[in-house]
Amino acid sequence: MSDRIIVKALKRLPIDNEREITLRIFRFNAEFDALPSYQDFTLKISRSQTLLDALNSVKSGADASLAYRRSCRHGICGSCAVFVENQAVLACKANLFELADRYGDTLRIDPLDKSLAIKDLIVDKTRFWESYRAVKPWLEASVGDAPKSENLIAPAATERLDGADACVECGACFYGCPVVAANGDFLGPAALAKAYRFVADIRDQNAPDRLRFIDRVKAGAWDCVKCYKCREACPKEVSPIDKILRLREMGFERGVNSDSVASRHAKSFKNSAFKSGRLDEAASVIESLGIFGALRHMREAFAMLRRGKLPIGAGKIDRLDEVRKLIKSASRKERL
Ligand code: FES
Repeated sequence: MSDRIIVKALKRLPIDNEREITLRIFRFNAEFDALPSYQDFTLKISRSQTLLDALNSVKSGADASLAYRRSCRHGICGSCAVFVENQAVLACKANLFELADRYGDTLRIDPLDKSLAIKDLIVDKTRFWESYRAVKPWLEASVGDAPKSENLIAPAATERLDGADACVECGACFYGCPVVAANGDFLGPAALAKAYRFVADIRDQNAPDRLRFIDRVKAGAWDCVKCYKCREACPKEVSPIDKILRLREMGFERGVNSDSVASRHAKSFKNSAFKSGRLDEAASVIESLGIFGALRHMREAFAMLRRGKLPIGAGKIDRLDEVRKLIKSASRKERL
């Protein structure tokens, strides 16, 4: 069959350019409502429409009281972030046909955090912005009062930012993070990714202070539990978890890591693997928690011993040199 005939055959295929969907939207007004509810809006959509287009249609045609944030309509301001079927999206970039293909013709639309809803899809982002401000999200460089030129950065140097500058502060990662929900002091993935953005910027002159700030116990990079929820939630593919892990490494490289349980555990883990190719759990607990801290875990230690889970007398593994090579290549030597 020639290419032309294929094109003709394709042209005869019916192409659905319209379909009917239902938006099941979270409704709540903190001023008047005791409990939230969901309200369904059914509408015809075209192939090119975004979720924001549909919300605008609902607001202008069916219910002018519907509240949601939006500004740029180009995925830049981050204000329109909501959850669709538990997945964070920027409403202005989320194609409705694609969402309906993935989740079906009824789509549940929720605010980023239902417990913080002020009105419908609008949430109180005070804590998010406080965390963001706390990491000083601006360049700290001495450029003088009247610089004669812009403080430019070479394209190759921007690679160190690893896409952290693409963050639009939508808050999707922050409200999807279980540590943020459990620990009121935790800075959260967005603020930590922003801290990384400036630590990695060769023009910034405050990297040691920034690293010390995000190293604080209960608040900083070592309190991340590596659940990867922030990576799943981010609609701009910033992957905050990668930046958080890099911040930990940078702290070691700069010698500014505090002597916390988490950082001691990381060091002990690496040393143990380097020494024997095995994870020495007993040494790791003692090195992380200290002798007295380790005594609290004696029951677990005996249980592990009984089940042969402590590599006592196990010695070094074969081909330890291969493991050491891997550890060395994974420990980046790049200095800021
Ligand atoms: S309206 Fe600005 S990111 Fe969607």
